[in-house]
Parts: sequence; C-alpha cells; structure tokens
Amino acid sequence: MKGLILSGGAGTRLRPITHTAAKQLVPVANKPVLFYGLEAMRAAGIDEVGIVVGDTRAEIEAAVGDGSAFDLAVTYLPQDAPRGLAHAVLISEGFLGDEPFVMYLGDNLLKEGIQPFVRAFEATGPDALILLQKVADPQSYGIAELDGDGCVSRLVEKPAEPRSDLALVGVYLFTPAVFESVKAIEPSARGELEITDAIQHMVDRGLRVEPHVVTGWWKDTGKLEDMLEANRLVLSTLVRDVQGDLHETTIEGPVVVGPGSRLERCTVRGPVVIGAGCRLSDTFVGPYTSLSDGVVVDHAEIEHSIVLENSRISHLSTRMSDSLIGRDCVIAHSDARPVAYRFLVGDSCQIGIL
Ligand code: G1P
Repeated sequence: MKGLILSGGAGTRLRPITHTAAKQLVPVANKPVLFYGLEAMRAAGIDEVGIVVGDTRAEIEAAVGDGSAFDLAVTYLPQDAPRGLAHAVLISEGFLGDEPFVMYLGDNLLKEGIQPFVRAFEATGPDALILLQKVADPQSYGIAELDGDGCVSRLVEKPAEPRSDLALVGVYLFTPAVFESVKAIEPSARGELEITDAIQHMVDRGLRVEPHVVTGWWKDTGKLEDMLEANRLVLSTLVRDVQGDLHETTIEGPVVVGPGSRLERCTVRGPVVIGAGCRLSDTFVGPYTSLSDGVVVDHAEIEHSIVLENSRISHLSTRMSDSLIGRDCVIAHSDARPVAYRFLVGDSCQIGIL
C-alpha cells in the first residue's frame, strides 16, 4: 500500500501565518502538523509516500527532504493550482499505479494515527474506506449520510443544510477503482474536483464504500481555534524532559525544555513545550503553551498559546492567552510618548486589546 499526502492549498483560514508559511508546517507541540501524518504512515507500515504540493513546494521539500528522516521514500507530485482533492488523486495516478493507497490531508491530526484503519481496509477489502466523526458544525465539512443498514448513501461537500452530522475525516483509503470516478466527475460550484463527489460516484457505481467512525480525537487544523485545540490535545500526552539551564525557576507538571534554553526567575506550569535556544526571564508560562526555538520572553505571562521561532514577547501588563504568534514577531511594552498602541501588522491579522 502507498501513501498520498496532500500538502497544497492556500490556508486562507490561517492567515496571516499562511501568507509566509505552508499551513501544513505550522507546528503543533513544536512539530509541524505534516510530520504527524508522515509518522502515522510509517507506523502503519507504509514506506512509499507521494506528497502533492502547490505554491509552497520549496518549503515542504526543505522540511521533509527525501523522507529518509521518517524512514520513508518521498516523491513530490506538483499540482499546478488548488483544483480539489480529487484532482490531486488524478495527477497522482502515475505514482500510485495499481496499488491501493491511503490519502491523508496534510493538515489533519488523528489521535490513533491510521494503522487501525489500514488494517480494517486490508481485512475487509472494500473499494474505499472513509473515516467519519460527529461534528458540531457539519456545514464546514464533507458530510456522509448513512442508510438504515449503516451503508453510505450520500455524501455532500459542506452542505448549507446538512442532513447528517457525520463529517468526513481527512483520511481516505482507496483501491485504484477511484481513478475512474475522479475522471468522471465535474468541478463543483467552487470550481474544484471534490473527493466527496468522487466517492459518491463510487457509491452510485455500486462499489463498496465502507464507513468507519473514528472514536479517538481528530482535528483539521485549518483554523486558529482548531490549531490551539490540536496543540492542547497533543500536549496532554507530554512527558517531562527538561534540558537547558534553569535559575530560580519552578517547573510544575509535564514540561519539555530544549537544549540551550535558559530560564531565569520563571514559573512554568505544564503541559508546556519550550524549544531549543529560548531565553525566558521573570515570566510565567501557563498550561498548553508551545514556544518554538529561539523565542525570547521577559516580564510576561503566557498561556494556551503557540509562539513560532525567534519571536520576542516583553513586558506585558496583561497575560497573553489563546494566541498564535508567527515567526520573528515582537510584542513589547514601550515607554515612548505619546502613550499609544503602535502596530506594524500584516494582512488578515486579528488583535484583541483591553
Ligand atoms: C476537506 C474536505 C472535506 C473534509 C475535510 C476534513 O475540507 O473537502 O470533505 O471533511 O477536508 O479535514 P477542507 O478542510 O479542505 O475545506
């Protein structure tokens, strides 16, 4: 079985972070989301993976390389524009050949990985296996309707009036029978070849599409709230590993501090992950916070947040919470007159002030 990871797309719901970075490389607990997918592939016994890439190809390639760091052989499959998930399957036919494959959306995270679903697919031999989970906002997902016997009867992409709350999780297992369907369907109203329509086409052809409800947590990290929740879920399983230098600092609960980091007069209440080469002083870091490498914090309190590489947070009079801060940002108190907020902020930013 081969793997296909989709790592294109514009990441519009995560702007401004995705103006400069691929959404699949935004870190959860200091590890790019995409790496969780690659590791899940390896754990399921897959060793050949194709990654469908778009505009952010160079960045994805720089991070993943030839795949050897994950014990995988990786092939890059360029998609000229975001033309839909079924289009990604279409352009990957040469790579996938006549093998069954698991398709994984590079911004999805599943607690139990994909191994149980790969095994279920191999055991029961359907033409496709789809993963489903109940969601509170079915309008935001592909939705599956099941008939009285629990078989898939209808699939609709982001319905305005959903008739089911079972969302399609971004992991799909297919036999090569899917190719006939991705070739047969037409672009949707949003101009994309939808995988949902391709699977519906398989159902309509009388093929066996098996639904599998995911019981462990699943997150599509496409939005800020989801990103923070994924960070929370992954950090909940953190195991304490404190390196770096600690001075007059209290560490409570599961906390990871990377090598070369220095903490002075701090309190860190886990679960918290602090990367390598960070400088923290006179600071409180509260639960569910991930600070990437090279982050500097002084005289501040931070909790339930993600801060990316080399950003600096200094002298905040109020605790910072529920935030995602990009790379090389500065958030600092200033004594300059007149007393005022001073911003240099990019497009599509959100700032909440007191
Ligand atoms: C895509 C699929 C959708 C699926 C979702 C899962 O949506 O089109 O059917 O439910 O992934 O993450 P997107 O997140 O690309 O809007």
